[in-house]
Amino acid sequence: MSQWLTLSRAAHLLGISRVALQKRIREGELPSFDGMVSVDDVHRSWPQLDLDESGSFEKIRAIREDAFARRLRERVLPTQEALAQRLFAQGQELAELQRTLTRYHALLETLRARLDAAPPPAAADLARLLDEGLASALSAPAPGGDVVALDAMLRVMSAHVTVKPSGREFFVEGSESLLKAALRAGLAPNYGCGNGNCGLCKARVVAGETRDVSPSDYRFSEAEKAQNHVLMCSCTALSSDLVLEVLEAGAPEDIPEQRIVAKVRRIDALNDDVMRLHLQTPRSNRLRFLAGQRVTLGIRANVGDGSDVHGEFPVASCPCDDRNLIFHIRRDDRRAASADFSACLFEGRVRIADDVSVWGPWGSCVLENASPQPLLFIAVEDGFAPINSLIEHAIAVDAAESITLYWATAKPDGQYLPNQCRAWADALDEFSYLPLTTDVLPAALAANPALTASDVYLAGAEREVEPILAVLRASGLPPEHLHVEAW
Ligand code: FES
Repeated sequence: MSQWLTLSRAAHLLGISRVALQKRIREGELPSFDGMVSVDDVHRSWPQLDLDESGSFEKIRAIREDAFARRLRERVLPTQEALAQRLFAQGQELAELQRTLTRYHALLETLRARLDAAPPPAAADLARLLDEGLASALSAPAPGGDVVALDAMLRVMSAHVTVKPSGREFFVEGSESLLKAALRAGLAPNYGCGNGNCGLCKARVVAGETRDVSPSDYRFSEAEKAQNHVLMCSCTALSSDLVLEVLEAGAPEDIPEQRIVAKVRRIDALNDDVMRLHLQTPRSNRLRFLAGQRVTLGIRANVGDGSDVHGEFPVASCPCDDRNLIFHIRRDDRRAASADFSACLFEGRVRIADDVSVWGPWGSCVLENASPQPLLFIAVEDGFAPINSLIEHAIAVDAAESITLYWATAKPDGQYLPNQCRAWADALDEFSYLPLTTDVLPAALAANPALTASDVYLAGAEREVEPILAVLRASGLPPEHLHVEAW
């Protein structure tokens, strides 16, 4: 009987995206049942898969060969306790399998003895059939043997977590916290300090075991202890399969307004007109936001009366890295409220290690996580900032059938991060990147046959997105599939 794998686990061990796996299923190349695929079918579809070609196997071999520094090994490898627990669980499974095989063997021996004692010729025929069947079963390598071995290895190296009630899944690598792993996978669990103090990241362990990886000051009530509550920011998975009940943000209204003071870590020019501003929040006071949202930034002007200068900007980075916030700030920002902040930055009045107040998040142009539709992102000029965050999130969620990015700028080659977009297109089978000038964007969109069947996200300055909006509305795209962030 074949072993069954969830789509996430099969994609994980094949080293491909879940979308690529689902495409094979849709195209009839890989049978699936109830969200599961059999090991035999996976092996039939990827006959070339073997341990030596697997990215995960390579990673582990590289660790074994000491190619990584100690710190990296500690991050990638689970703790000794987790390894011991998972190996023990696998040992139990193997022992049970061995007991079952022993019982089958005894049954076959009895059957063989009875056939030898039975009158010929029918019994002789059956005995021959039995001998031939056993010989061929024992001589042929089991189909999917490599897949089973690789899956067993990955179950030891990384834990699989299923979240209730959403049913979403993620993997915990090494000794990373459940919170970090969930954010990396594009989930939006409830949390606050990220530091074991506030208790907002509480989750209930429905099945499996966890282990603390950092100290926490939060005190659980007796009822919470009895119900197996843990802090996602302070513990990791001990067993290879974990089921957690987690409170997740489903919409922007679920994210509380926050005020944080962050430090300027880096400022660099992406081209003549766009600066990248990198802020870092305190370790115990990170910004919780959804991809596509914006915040208000405030600094001391350092000139005139020295009063605060504010500006509202989309976060260009992914919510999975809630400490490092990236902004793309344009020289000629026409937003009255943001022009002064932009001027301060371009005039060199914001310096490394300056304090910047961060207030927000705002905005509702966020990703529809549950939608399996193709995603079409349209960035106009620095509208790429929120689109960058949305794309990184979409890649982490790995639910959309395909991702297409149009990035239009007035000047040819005005796309200020072209290599990053090309890297996405090179790395992901279902990712297309089309850099173009704003004058040809309307015609390119009108010629896209998949436009009306996609979830479309458009971002940029209001005066620059208006002509694009007119094309999208005239195309017959249902309004609920159009998401706009305009300033
Ligand atoms: S986020 Fe505050 S305790 Fe975990």
